[in-house]
Amino acid sequence: MSRSARACLGWLVVLAAAAGLAGGLAGAPAGAQTEVLSPAERERAATIYASQCATCHGADARGGVVPATGDPVPALAGNPAVTVAYLDLVMRTGRMPPPEDDPYDNRARDVVLTDEERRIVVAYLADAVEIAGELPDPPPGNAARGREVYATNCAQCHGSTGAGGVAGAGAWTPAVNDKLPVTIAEAVRVGPFEMPAFDAEQISDQEVGDIAAFLAEVAAETGTPIGLLELNPVYASGIAALFSLAVVLSLLWIAGRPTWFPDPRGQRRGAPRTDPVVQHGGDADKDPT
Ligand code: HEC
Ligand code: HEC
Repeated sequence: MSRSARACLGWLVVLAAAAGLAGGLAGAPAGAQTEVLSPAERERAATIYASQCATCHGADARGGVVPATGDPVPALAGNPAVTVAYLDLVMRTGRMPPPEDDPYDNRARDVVLTDEERRIVVAYLADAVEIAGELPDPPPGNAARGREVYATNCAQCHGSTGAGGVAGAGAWTPAVNDKLPVTIAEAVRVGPFEMPAFDAEQISDQEVGDIAAFLAEVAAETGTPIGLLELNPVYASGIAALFSLAVVLSLLWIAGRPTWFPDPRGQRRGAPRTDPVVQHGGDADKDPT
């Protein structure tokens, strides 16, 4: 290696060390749990916050009002209720950002942000406005034990099979039997909106894993796809009904085109065929007559 190449390499090492130190210092106040974003990710996260959250929560995340309705909006910065898990939860369940004209409607749950966008917005806010906490990682659990813990603590609001839709405690509840274990763990500790929070004395981390195992078992029994956002059961049955109607109609069509459907060749059924392609016998649709 030539002298100049070695000098070059030396400088690169020094620069890399300096960059690492600066990055470490910048990340330090927010706590070791928070992921450090690259400058490009940070910039992208800031843009997402500005377009998806700042209109209501304020550019400085100190709260404000909903532009369309004038309703009050809580602060994210300096709000002891808001943790990293709460931020992650509201975005992964589609609770935030909410419909612009009705941000209190907890049934409206269009998931707007992708997993990647959510990840960087959480890390960005944790660092930029110092939001504390970390994402939970529940242990694998025992479904039989989970059934009991769930029945005692959750079923009265979310229903015995976690299908949700129970209007208890003054609020409609979402389905919980289609959620990932991390989502369940976040909700149990956070207690989002109308839901009470449970601390580790009331429900241990192991019991959170047990609840998740029980709900996954229910999902497997009922064929619910886990991790996909649930459809509103009313819409879901409507869509199912439309789908079966479409299937029945197609079957009728295949079984023998009813006379009230026009023949594509403009001929009446049973009329002698003149189409040369049919005469050559290559048509699977050939009339048996
Ligand atoms: C259209 C206005 C609006 C937008 C946009 C919006 N929010 Fe909200 N947000 C609200 C309102 C209103 C509440 C309080 C709702 C309630 O109490 O039912 C809220 C509550 C929250 C809470 C819970 C705060 C608490 O004290 O319980 C979090 C966390 C949150 N929003 C995060 C976000 C994030 C992150 C974004 C962007 C991805 C976002 N919000 C976008 C209006 C909005
Ligand atoms: C007093 C009623 C009540 C009890 C008890 C309750 N929840 Fe909830 N839960 C709610 C409500 C209401 C929401 C929706 C909050 C919102 O987003 O506005 C919710 C939200 C959730 C969510 C987030 C789902 C989503 O799509 O946003 C999960 C997961 C959850 N609950 C699990 C549980 C588990 C597990 C228990 C038992 C340990 C439990 N809940 C106990 C009322 C309750």
